Amino acid sequence: MSQYPIGPNSLDQIEPLFSQIRLFKEIDSTNDEARRAIKSGVSGINLIIADSQTGGRGRRGRTWVSPAGGLYMSFIFPFQKDLIQPQALSLVAAISVKNSLEEWSMTPIKLKWPNDLLVEGKKLAGILLELETSGKNNHVVFGIGVNYLLTVDQKVKIDREVTDLNEHAESIPARERVITKICIDLLNNVREFVGEGFAPFKSVWNESDHYLGSSVVVSDGKSQKSGISLGVNDGAELIIESDSGKELISSGEIAFGLRELVGTINCDT
Ligand code: BTN
Repeated sequence: MSQYPIGPNSLDQIEPLFSQIRLFKEIDSTNDEARRAIKSGVSGINLIIADSQTGGRGRRGRTWVSPAGGLYMSFIFPFQKDLIQPQALSLVAAISVKNSLEEWSMTPIKLKWPNDLLVEGKKLAGILLELETSGKNNHVVFGIGVNYLLTVDQKVKIDREVTDLNEHAESIPARERVITKICIDLLNNVREFVGEGFAPFKSVWNESDHYLGSSVVVSDGKSQKSGISLGVNDGAELIIESDSGKELISSGEIAFGLRELVGTINCDT
């Protein structure tokens, strides 16, 4: 068993918000389980939580190292109409999780475009947003991975600087409390986004941008662009300024400096 097993009764407060909450001690990936559920006709808003993942996935095909001691969850949101600005939802999700974790973190949490959470430049959480269509319905899957309580050994095996909630909280909150807060904040913000778009979130994002005014390299896996980050616009696009002027970027991510590690896979957490 993991050190902080999740008991179904402790999620009572959020149970009415979901059609179904499913808990796994171990799973390949909560996002993969969400996509399987969508394909088999799941209805309503669903939540899938795991203690550990054997095939955790990060953005851009990276591995998300997922030992027991992390927090792994995927939300399934059905959308009946065409979703406007789906890429903006990943920024909305990052703002939500940041707000949730700030309930406990004594150190400010910053954002890295489009949806990483950093504390003092080290990764605290990441979000993998996937769109899945089944029949007439579109579904968005929000996969959220939070570094909750990792051992020193687990941290050093990861090829980038990571931190966990335990390092920044006065005392580590029960995992169920963190999950509850994330669910409430995310649902509220997604509803606001569906009604009003990204504009109300723009200034919140820019106030938390770790790289605002700094030189950045943005990569989409094929090409790289560099310039000074001017934050995001109403469409959640990143604005960068270089010698050739201002440019709007809608896909890719700000590149993270990788740590030099011998014998590790390109992974993430
Ligand atoms: C990233 O920063 O690259 C995104 C990481 C997302 C990880 C979460 S953990 C829960 C869900 N299941 C997965 O396989 N990935 C997401």
